[in-house]
Amino acid sequence: MEVIHAIKTRRSHRQYTDEVVTADELNAVMDAARWAPSWANSQSWHFVVVLDKGVKSRIADSLTGNRASQAVQQAPVLIVCCAEPGKSGCFDGAPVTDKGLSWYMYDAALAMQNLSLAAHELGLGTVHLGRFDAAAVGSIVNLPDNLVVVAMTPLGHPPADASPPAPPRKRLEEIITYDAFERPGI
Ligand SMILES: Cc1cc2nc3c(=O)[nH]c(=O)nc-3n(C[C@H](O)[C@H](O)[C@H](O)COP(=O)(O)O)c2cc1C
Repeated sequence: MEVIHAIKTRRSHRQYTDEVVTADELNAVMDAARWAPSWANSQSWHFVVVLDKGVKSRIADSLTGNRASQAVQQAPVLIVCCAEPGKSGCFDGAPVTDKGLSWYMYDAALAMQNLSLAAHELGLGTVHLGRFDAAAVGSIVNLPDNLVVVAMTPLGHPPADASPPAPPRKRLEEIITYDAFERPGI
């Protein structure tokens, strides 16, 4: 699949069949995640791959007000993306930009998008999840103190007839400024 085609046709999937994700498929998507760029190649991400139905159920139950909570329950795999603050954007443990410790979020997002696009190429669905109680999820997976939970995605086979509509995007003219913003009076 061409990269630009994959980028444009990937959709968020919130319905899954119970068809298994093979070990090869799982390895392929996780391998794509690890090839994402990161601050000074810090790779401060860590992924909890949840296969156990009981753990998955407890995480799904902890989601409130999220229209993807059923997807977490249905999909055969749930990937919890974690990160270790204090590496990305830091030198000798101290932040070196005005973004403080938050660069790990950027790195983790790049890894998750790699993962989602690789899944899409394999005919698997994902949906980035950000609306959940990270402390509750961390507690369910016994997260070590040095890590934080950043995001999650179910991974599985969407129903054969699934074709979620593409939510509209802003036009390029709305999101690009060439060279510099205009300053009134200059
Ligand atoms: C950082 C982030 C957090 C998101 N959190 C959720 C979420 O908690 N629940 C959900 O159903 N979708 C979530 N989404 C999916 C977005 O709603 C979706 O990507 C957007 O509507 C565009 O649709 P598309 O992915 O099909 O192009 C999230 C997406 C991103 C990038």
